[in-house]
Amino acid sequence: MSAMIYPTSNFAEQDKLCIERAKGVYVYDSNNKQYLEGMSGLWCTALGYGNEELIAAITNQLHRLSFSHLFGGKSHSPGVALADKLAAMVPIEDARVFFGTSGSDANDTHYKILRYYFNAINKPQKRKIITRERAYHGVTVASGALTSLPVNNRHFDLPIDALNILRTDSPHYFSSHLQGESETQFVDRIVANLESLILHENPDTIAAMIIEPITGASGVIVPPDGYYKKVQTILRKYDILIWVDEVITGFGRTGNDFGCTTMGIKPDLMTFAKQLSSAYYPISAAVIPGYMHDAMVEQSSANGVFGHGYTYSGHPVGCAAALKTLEIFEREHIFEKAAEAGVYLRKQLEKFVDHPLVGEIRGKGLLMALELVPNKLKNTRFADGKVGAFAQRACQEHGLIVRAVAGNSIALCPPLIISHSQIDEIIQKLTKALDDTLIYTQKEKLLFA
Ligand SMILES: Cc1ncc(COP(=O)(O)O)c(C=O)c1O
Repeated sequence: MSAMIYPTSNFAEQDKLCIERAKGVYVYDSNNKQYLEGMSGLWCTALGYGNEELIAAITNQLHRLSFSHLFGGKSHSPGVALADKLAAMVPIEDARVFFGTSGSDANDTHYKILRYYFNAINKPQKRKIITRERAYHGVTVASGALTSLPVNNRHFDLPIDALNILRTDSPHYFSSHLQGESETQFVDRIVANLESLILHENPDTIAAMIIEPITGASGVIVPPDGYYKKVQTILRKYDILIWVDEVITGFGRTGNDFGCTTMGIKPDLMTFAKQLSSAYYPISAAVIPGYMHDAMVEQSSANGVFGHGYTYSGHPVGCAAALKTLEIFEREHIFEKAAEAGVYLRKQLEKFVDHPLVGEIRGKGLLMALELVPNKLKNTRFADGKVGAFAQRACQEHGLIVRAVAGNSIALCPPLIISHSQIDEIIQKLTKALDDTLIYTQKEKLLFA
């Protein structure tokens, strides 16, 4: 048995799929079996595997400058170039960029910057953060507390109250509407709950609300039309900042440059990781507007430094990987191609609309999910996540990697470079796996509950 402690894994589970190599959209296990990587690893390998241009950019950077930091008085050109490039891409005025190495650490950075900023402008009481039920924002202490999935919170005793974290409704109509409630009534009810929460807590004590435009780990939830418009109206009314977590939805994933563009959100703060470097090197970014940065200058100067930074903040190799990734996105029109592939994927997935197990097909662009249910006529749910886990294994048997999220939703998030024929391959494999899963649910008498 290996000495490895596996992340986000069942410690008692011995079965492991050992991935040894990869090329394009395919990965290969230790028996040389091929799988189509329908999840881009963990929602991250936008340009697929073995991209020679990216590998060359990383190798050249390693030769030129394998490490240099950005603490007090030091800089390097890949870092500056990447910050400027990203600032020019995002819908934030005079954007400033702080680098890290993971989505979790970037969210923790935002959490700390918000406090630092509100202290600097003499509003120290403005420190609470609103997050949503079923949100996923990472697993470090602050970002883990912003995450609402029970599995990431249970037994860790995170200091939710000390961190001043508030929770409001998940905007998933399919799973959370009341009987007979229309989408508009659902939106009005949960937006009213949000406003009541804000008034109950006192708006002057709330700094920001964190939002995944479309969620990932909690089941690829696309809120109903009108939800974000109403949420933004409330947040603006009470002077609460909009913090958009684009760790999954950033960079062409949802059919546009950013998830906030797809969903019509005007962000104040943005978090990036994953596709920023197509996962060729760990790098993340916390982006804030220029006015927040300017407000902190005096305080950091009086303090000696802005006392937050990671050894690997702006690692030059990560910056070189991200710069090349963004260059390829632009030059090869990857976002446009991915948007078009997303339309094709959706059309193919619609074929499952009559499958007895498929309760909802949802998503945008190349970020999709099928929710498996026991009785689609009655809008009921399986008691646990066994059916989703079975379907995930069945896909694997047939050479397709997917991920069961939020119990029984099968997520699909293929590399942005996927072709139509590779999408057809996903559909063929998924069809077989869903048929296997149907037989399993029939045998186990799990249907029509
Ligand atoms: C929306 C979102 N935010 C933050 C994170 C955390 O990123 P990391 O795993 O790089 O810490 C994730 C990871 O999946 C995510 O999906």
